[in-house]
Amino acid sequence: MNILLVEDNPGDVLIIDEMLKEVVGTKFNLVHTNRLDLALKNLLKDNFDAMLLDLGLLDSQGMDTFFTIKMHSPQLPIVILTGLADEDFAVKAIGEGAQDYLIKGQIDGRLLIRSIKYAIERKNSEELIKKSLEEKKLLIKEIHHRVKNNLMVISGLLNLQSQYIHDQNDLEFFKESQARAKSMALIHERLYQSDNFKSIDFGEYIVKLSNDLFHTYNCNASHVKFDIKVENIMVDVDTAIPLGLIVNELLSNSLKHGFPDGRSGDIKIKFHHYHDKLQLIVKDNGIGLSGKMDYKNTDSLGLQLVNLLTGQIDGELEVNMNGGTEFIISFIELNFN
Ligand SMILES: Nc1ncnc2c1ncn2[C@@H]1O[C@H](COP(=O)(O)OP(=O)(O)OP(=O)(O)O)[C@@H](O)[C@H]1O
Ligand SMILES: [Mg+2]
Repeated sequence: MNILLVEDNPGDVLIIDEMLKEVVGTKFNLVHTNRLDLALKNLLKDNFDAMLLDLGLLDSQGMDTFFTIKMHSPQLPIVILTGLADEDFAVKAIGEGAQDYLIKGQIDGRLLIRSIKYAIERKNSEELIKKSLEEKKLLIKEIHHRVKNNLMVISGLLNLQSQYIHDQNDLEFFKESQARAKSMALIHERLYQSDNFKSIDFGEYIVKLSNDLFHTYNCNASHVKFDIKVENIMVDVDTAIPLGLIVNELLSNSLKHGFPDGRSGDIKIKFHHYHDKLQLIVKDNGIGLSGKMDYKNTDSLGLQLVNLLTGQIDGELEVNMNGGTEFIISFIELNFN
């Protein structure tokens, strides 16, 4: 076993050298240096199985010594050598990834060997766990990518099939379903681009989705302007999917129904923290819902979905009908930051 000892006290070097020589069974090859810069040179030159490191050297002191080595050789198992007075530093180094520490004057041969072997084994298994975590991340990313692609395929298939539909009303149904599949695809696209694959920046999502929908329904609402005010709030996937569909329904309603016959106006979209809740507002100054309409009880699918999905995220739905249509959805998101 190749061990690099970085220690500036010749007495301690001698003791450790003696201890390692006495071990039966394993042969230790001890390389010694007393400075940090020389230690780094040694690491470049040779392969070492582990390092015994004194934090207080001639050219470097305390945690800096440890950080420099760790940056240089992140894979190397390190056992800290320390005096009683510096034990706090050693404990801190463990928190930062050192494998173990030994207090000078309290070391015996058995303890030293055990510590070195344990450090090597533990570092090995740490590396394995790190590797499998990376693989898992890649897999999740891959899955979101595929889900997104499949949803886009469904959206594309609906588009192809709609060529065989001649009734204008039926054609609308196809267009709607296409938009729904696409709004979900967009969530998965954001998910595989995110760091944790579990939550997305919902503000960003709204901006992207609004742009997509604007193009989809552009012919209906070419005189309509968007006014988007969103906070960048991370939302968990379990909330993002239903909430994304809600935005899709409300926005497409405003674009489809709010401004008939070339009427002009604007659609305001807001997503923000409101007291201890999150709030989504979609408001247009178009023709408004018909007075007779019970928005909680419709035959049409769009508003049924909005009611259902609001329930799914334990949200509250409020509708204002003065001078247009305003939907306000408030909910508590436990996972946001
Ligand atoms: N922003 C709005 N402005 C004016 N009328 C609206 C608005 N939103 C909804 N409506 C009216 O409410 C009705 C019900 O909406 P809903 O979304 O449930 O169905 P839809 O849009 O007609 O069809 P779909 O089920 O495909 O969404 C609409 O047909 C429309 O008349
Ligand atoms: Mg609708």
